[in-house]
Amino acid sequence: MSMTSAEKDPHTLAAEAAGTAVTPEEAMAGRDVTLLDISDPQFMATAYDTYNELRDKERISVVRFTAGNQDADKSDEQKKQRSPREEFFNRESFFVTHYDDVVSTLLDDRYVVDPRSMMTPEQRAAAEADAPEEFRPLSRSLLSIDPPDHTRIRKLVQPSFTGRGMEAMRPAIQQVADTLLDRAEADAAARGETPGNRQMELIRSFAYPFPVAVISNMLGIPPEDREQIRGWTENLLRVDRGRDEAMNEQVRQGLKDFTAYLQDLFERKRRHPDDDMISRMVVATEDGDVLTEEEMLATVFLMYLAGHVTTVNLVGSGVVAVLSHPEQEELLRNDLSLSKNLVEETLRYWGPVDFIGRRFATQNIELEGEEIPRGSQVAVSLGAANRDPEKFANPDVFDITRADANRHVAFGRGIHVCLGAPLARIEGQIAFETLFRRYPELRLAVPVEEIMWSNNFLRGFRQIPVLF
Ligand code: HEM
Repeated sequence: MSMTSAEKDPHTLAAEAAGTAVTPEEAMAGRDVTLLDISDPQFMATAYDTYNELRDKERISVVRFTAGNQDADKSDEQKKQRSPREEFFNRESFFVTHYDDVVSTLLDDRYVVDPRSMMTPEQRAAAEADAPEEFRPLSRSLLSIDPPDHTRIRKLVQPSFTGRGMEAMRPAIQQVADTLLDRAEADAAARGETPGNRQMELIRSFAYPFPVAVISNMLGIPPEDREQIRGWTENLLRVDRGRDEAMNEQVRQGLKDFTAYLQDLFERKRRHPDDDMISRMVVATEDGDVLTEEEMLATVFLMYLAGHVTTVNLVGSGVVAVLSHPEQEELLRNDLSLSKNLVEETLRYWGPVDFIGRRFATQNIELEGEEIPRGSQVAVSLGAANRDPEKFANPDVFDITRADANRHVAFGRGIHVCLGAPLARIEGQIAFETLFRRYPELRLAVPVEEIMWSNNFLRGFRQIPVLF
């Protein structure tokens, strides 16, 4: 029985549209497939060993990402309804581990991020037809679209992220950091704890709320609305995690409410523009340089999705790395200006994004003697590249004086390179500099072995109990 295009998954459609002679599956047949189970609590703890083995063994590997056995008990009907995210888990993918290959792949415009870019208009319409309305902005963000839309939107959003603009935000970011730490001190004082022996769970009290407040400032969310939007941004993170959960009526309603709130805010900013990112976006719309309402929503959602937990993890991982390497801590305490290089070395050593999951080959591509057929899914391991001994001397050593730490690829490369990198760097510097300046006795409250990595896509610790 032949399927209609609405019944076929996007990858089959993409391969058909590309007219592939050898399918990616055929090209991968007979290869060793390494399972990368993101849901395994030990995954992050052993991932660098896995990457090192793969990098030593072959130029390009074949992996299959899994998140436990979530797909096994699904009906065929449910399998057809897989979101792009679920799709990612259910097929083999090439996995790039060498630094030079990671860079060349990310710079190569023969790859796209949206499999729909390879479809005919009819196939595309069929694939898009049943996507729920309130999820559309999420799938239309910069991260998930290709040129020419990507080029146009990025050009309109980029001016909000220049290095100079970010430098101007320093005092406001410093204030956010100090306010959070003042609160942690007040809480400890209320518990009767004294300096040097005060307790804090660093993620909850500092690393987590810090970047959300900074992004809200930058976007121009009025202070009196902050509490209200907090639940919605949490909700957004849940939607991003999986469609099953997202189908929950409450979650969908939350997304609708956030959308309605933002549409109203766009209107208010249109009438009374201020010096913030949302004002710049609505004005850009009026100038005829088009950013549709859906694209503005997508951009705001992406700020909270791409700019939040990544930065939480940069701060948390950097603190744990320093506190578990006494000689590095001494260097830092003697010279707090090393905070800048601590940011770079943390991004290299324990960068928040281990791999960029989704690139699709639009034509047959040769990579160092390996053939990657059209329609293949290629994942690019930033974590493996950042520990490549051909690029970094003693890559598994954490060294905040490393002169070339900033050659890491933790922010990606090419047209999708992290837009928020200048902001993340300043947030990291301020967080480290402030914590180590304010708290000469800052230390882990438990042995470092007891601090657990999270089991999700991003590398970061679940909880970091400290004494300060
Ligand atoms: C340490 C913190 C961060 C890390 C490690 C990080 C990492 C990344 C990476 C690897 C990409 C490229 C993804 C790809 O090529 O598919 C990316 C893209 C992006 N990041 Fe970040 N990010 C961080 C912080 C931020 C912040 C603070 C913001 C904004 C508030 C932000 C906004 C974005 C946006 C908008 C994109 C999409 C750019 C595009 O597709 O053109 N990121 N980030």
